[in-house]
Amino acid sequence: MLDPTSSTDVFVVRGGAPLRGTVRLSGAKNSALKLMAAGILCDGTLELGAIPRIADVPVMAEVLRGIGLGVDLDLANERCTIDASVEPDWRPPRDAVTRIRASISCLGPLVGRTRRARIALPGGDKIGARRIEMHVRGLMAMGAEVEERADEVEVVARELHGAILTLDFPSVGATENLVMAAVLADGTTVLDNAAREPEIQDLCRMLVAMGARIDGIGSPTLEIEGVDRLAPISWETCPDRIEAGTYAVAAALTGGDVVIERVRPADLTLPLLKLRSAGVVIEEGGDSLRVKAGDLDPVDFVTLPYPGFPTDLQPQMMVLLTQAEGTSRCTENVFESRFSFVDELARMGADIQIDGHHALIRGPAPLVGATFTGLDVRAGAAGTLAGLVARGTTVVRDVHHVDRGYADWIPRLQALGADVERVPASDVDA
Ligand code: EPU
Repeated sequence: MLDPTSSTDVFVVRGGAPLRGTVRLSGAKNSALKLMAAGILCDGTLELGAIPRIADVPVMAEVLRGIGLGVDLDLANERCTIDASVEPDWRPPRDAVTRIRASISCLGPLVGRTRRARIALPGGDKIGARRIEMHVRGLMAMGAEVEERADEVEVVARELHGAILTLDFPSVGATENLVMAAVLADGTTVLDNAAREPEIQDLCRMLVAMGARIDGIGSPTLEIEGVDRLAPISWETCPDRIEAGTYAVAAALTGGDVVIERVRPADLTLPLLKLRSAGVVIEEGGDSLRVKAGDLDPVDFVTLPYPGFPTDLQPQMMVLLTQAEGTSRCTENVFESRFSFVDELARMGADIQIDGHHALIRGPAPLVGATFTGLDVRAGAAGTLAGLVARGTTVVRDVHHVDRGYADWIPRLQALGADVERVPASDVDA
C-alpha cells in the first residue's frame, strides 16, 4: 500500500546483496496523472486501471474533487474512477495544485471543457525552472486570452478554435495540455514538434477511444480535429518504463539476476541499448525483461526527448557507470539542474566531474555508505541504488520525493533480497 508515513522517514540501505527474483511493476506515473486530468474531458465516468500506488495520485484526486468531480480511488486494486458528468469548476484548489507539478495538466482539459481555467503555477524546483510559456502560447493561438500573474495563470476562451502550432521544443507538458484543449476545440489543430513519449501516446490513444480524432500518434506531428463530446470508457495505464529502467540498473549494479514484469521493452529501446553497451545482459520477453550483471564497461549517453535517452533515467545510469571500468560521458539536455544529486554521490566516493551540462564519470569507484539527500524523485532512487552497491550503510533522506514516483519501492527491493528498510529519521538521528 501507499505508505502514509511521514516525509521525515529515511531509507537505511546496507550494500552488498545481489538482487534476485521477479518484480512486477506499476502503471506509469507520468501517464496515470495525465489520464486522471483527462477525466475532466469525459462526459460521464472514466474508469482507469493500473494506477500506481504513488503519493502524487491521491493529490491529483484531491485537485479533481476540488473542481466538483466525483473521484473514487482504490489504490489497493490500482483503480480510479472519475465522474465528470457535471461540468467542472474552472478554478482548481490552490492547496492541492501546488503540491504536485503534474496538476498543470488540468489546464488544457479545463480550457477544452469549460473554455476557462484559473490555476496556480508550478514553481521551479531542483531539476530546473519548469516554465509553461509554450502551453500559454499554444492556447493563445487557439483564441484564448491569457493573463499570467506571479503565481497563477488565468485563461478565458470565448472561442476556442483549431490552429497550426509549432513547439520550440518537444515539451511533454505543453503537448499534453494542447492536445487536451484541442480535442474539444472547434476545427482542426496541427501540433508540430510535438513530444511523443509513450505516456503521451497512451493519453492520445485513450482520448481516441473516448471519441477524439487524433492522427499522427507517436509522430512529431499531431493533427487533432475537435469533437463535441468525449464518452466514458475504461482504460489501463501503460507500464512505467522509468521504473523498469531503474530496476534494470539495480539488478546490473548489484551483480544480480532479476525478471522485471509488466514492461514494454519497445518503450526502452535506447536505455536497453546503452545498458547492453555497458555490458549488462538483457533478455527481452513480450512484457518482461530478464536483467543479469556482466562486467561493466563505460558508455556515453545523451538525454533527449523520446525516443532519446530519458532524463528520468539519467541519475540511475550515472550510478551504474560509477562501477564501470573506464570513463563514461553523460550530457543532460532536458533539465538544467539535473546533476544536483552528483555532490551527494561524490560524498559516497563517486568520481564525477561536471562541466555545465556534461559529466565525466570515472570508474570503477568503490562507494562507501553515507547520508544521501535526494531532492527529486529520480535522485532519491539513485541514492538508494548507490547504497545497494556501497560498502557499509547509506541513509537516504527526503524520501517523500521517491514516494511520488515509485510504488512500493522498499517492499519490492526487500522482496528481491536487498537489505533496505524505511524508518523514522529520529531512529537514525538518535
Ligand atoms: N520547458 C520550457 N517551456 C515550456 C515547457 C517546458 O522551457 O513551456 C522546458 C522545461 O523547463 C524543461 C524542458 O522544457 O527544461 C522539458 O520540459 P517538459 O515540458 O518536456 O517536461 P514536463 O512536462 O515538465 C515531464 C515529466 C518529467 C520528465 C519530463 C521530460 C510529468 C509530470 N513530468 O515533465 O518527469 O522528466 O516530462 O520527459 O510528466 C520525473 O518523473 O522524474 C519527471 C521529472
